[in-house]
Amino acid sequence: MTRYEFLKSMGFQGGALMALLASCQTNNDPTPSSSTSSSSSSSSSSSGSTSGSTSGSATSSSTVLASIDLTATAYAALKNSGGYVIVNSIVVARTAQNTYVAATQTCSHEPKKKVTFVNGEFFCSEHGARYSTTGVGLNSYGAKGLTVYTVTVNGNTLEIS
Ligand code: FES
Repeated sequence: MTRYEFLKSMGFQGGALMALLASCQTNNDPTPSSSTSSSSSSSSSSSGSTSGSTSGSATSSSTVLASIDLTATAYAALKNSGGYVIVNSIVVARTAQNTYVAATQTCSHEPKKKVTFVNGEFFCSEHGARYSTTGVGLNSYGAKGLTVYTVTVNGNTLEIS
């Protein structure tokens, strides 16, 4: 089990997970390593009780991985719910009015950059892995889960961290 998998199994996700990983590593590459662990553990067992929690000790040191100007024509797909774009190998999708989700484009089944956003969930076209918008695997191919990021809406700008 990698450090990433361990922290994710502990319920950490999104920005908190990335901040922890960044604090433990000298390499700040946001892409988790895709080791071939035979474990079928999933972070869904605890139903994400820590998601959305506000930690009093949290700092604003999370790294901005991508910034999106919603007025730019290149990101017009984000004007509609269900639309998505790919920026810096991150899939950014609009799920509702002023609500966005983001995840790595790299599948956890095999390290292929084939994750997109289909029917309200992240989907890998290589073998069909499905992931919820929180990164929980929805079928056997997606059992390892998907790294998701925090999307902050600031006017017409999205920041992914
Ligand atoms: S590489 Fe994505 S489902 Fe197999």
